[in-house]
Amino acid sequence: MPNDPIEPQAVYQPITRSAIFIVATLTPGAEHAATVRAWCADVAALVRSVGKRVPGGNLSCVCGFGTDAWDTLFGGPHPASLHAFREFGAGDRRAVATRGDLLLHIRAEHMDLCFELATQLIGRLGAAVTVVDEVHGFRYFDMRSMVGFVDGTENPVDREAVDFTIIGDEDLSFAGGSYVIVQKYLHDMTGWNELSVEAQERIIGRTKLSDIELDESIKPTCSHSSLTTLEEDGKEVKILRDNMPFGSPGKGEFGTYFIGYARSPAPIEQMLENMFVGRPPGNYDRLLDYSKAVTGSLFFVPSQALLEALAERNP
Ligand code: HEM
Repeated sequence: MPNDPIEPQAVYQPITRSAIFIVATLTPGAEHAATVRAWCADVAALVRSVGKRVPGGNLSCVCGFGTDAWDTLFGGPHPASLHAFREFGAGDRRAVATRGDLLLHIRAEHMDLCFELATQLIGRLGAAVTVVDEVHGFRYFDMRSMVGFVDGTENPVDREAVDFTIIGDEDLSFAGGSYVIVQKYLHDMTGWNELSVEAQERIIGRTKLSDIELDESIKPTCSHSSLTTLEEDGKEVKILRDNMPFGSPGKGEFGTYFIGYARSPAPIEQMLENMFVGRPPGNYDRLLDYSKAVTGSLFFVPSQALLEALAERNP
């Protein structure tokens, strides 16, 4: 954005058809921390080198750091709202917290671009990290989620996307940064497919084929879209999502990789509480009767300039 004083990483990107999500943990030891710091200055050049080879491939990479990793790698100051992923839940419904020090969100039109960049980035990190989760996501026809509904419709765009995702004056040392929460969900597709289309539509809050919001008179207050709609002082607070389906039919694995960016973790945490606990408690998201969160982590995404400058930190 031309008027932005501090350029963010590629948080608000055009929609792409492929993505790789990598969560890694740091290997303890000063030499490994030094490797990761030095790597921070190399990321942009690697994205350029790989991306240049396919014009129109829209290759990008966002790097995020977990709270403990931030302190180990870079010391103070600490991004104001960076903390460990907060668990939410009641009964069997749990938004679990899982380990994660480093997140790579790699997007491109074609998987070969994502694959090559992931290979280069992980190769340079070498023994300094252990990859604990890697998901290759694909765009499913006309933006369908794994559960068959169009996903991403109500995302903010243009200026609104920037305003809802990029830190400004509220934390000046980290302006141009963002927060990101990821969760890997696995679906019970047999159970979901046994529901009628009308029952599924009431769970999501939108029509399945045409992706139109259900009329308020029939949309349940526990629908996914109701529980994830937040208002503060009469104004809607949005987040930016770029979920991707993934899976392996041979293993019976059908999943959604949830990824949400915001300028504070608070709205995403509020949505998770509404979904898992309910608003009011008990009035929870029925999508969770067919979806289980198996990972959950929160990361801070420094601005592009800060990411490069982090290479020089000496905590
Ligand atoms: C099982 C994983 C999930 C699936 C399959 C899923 C799917 C969907 C679908 C199909 C829509 C409707 C179209 C749209 O506006 O994008 C939607 C909306 C939305 N979802 Fe999710 N979602 C999942 C998890 C989450 C989580 C964990 C959050 C937040 C913590 C979230 C936040 C939202 C928001 C903010 C909207 C837009 C609501 C509106 O303004 O109407 N979703 N999701």
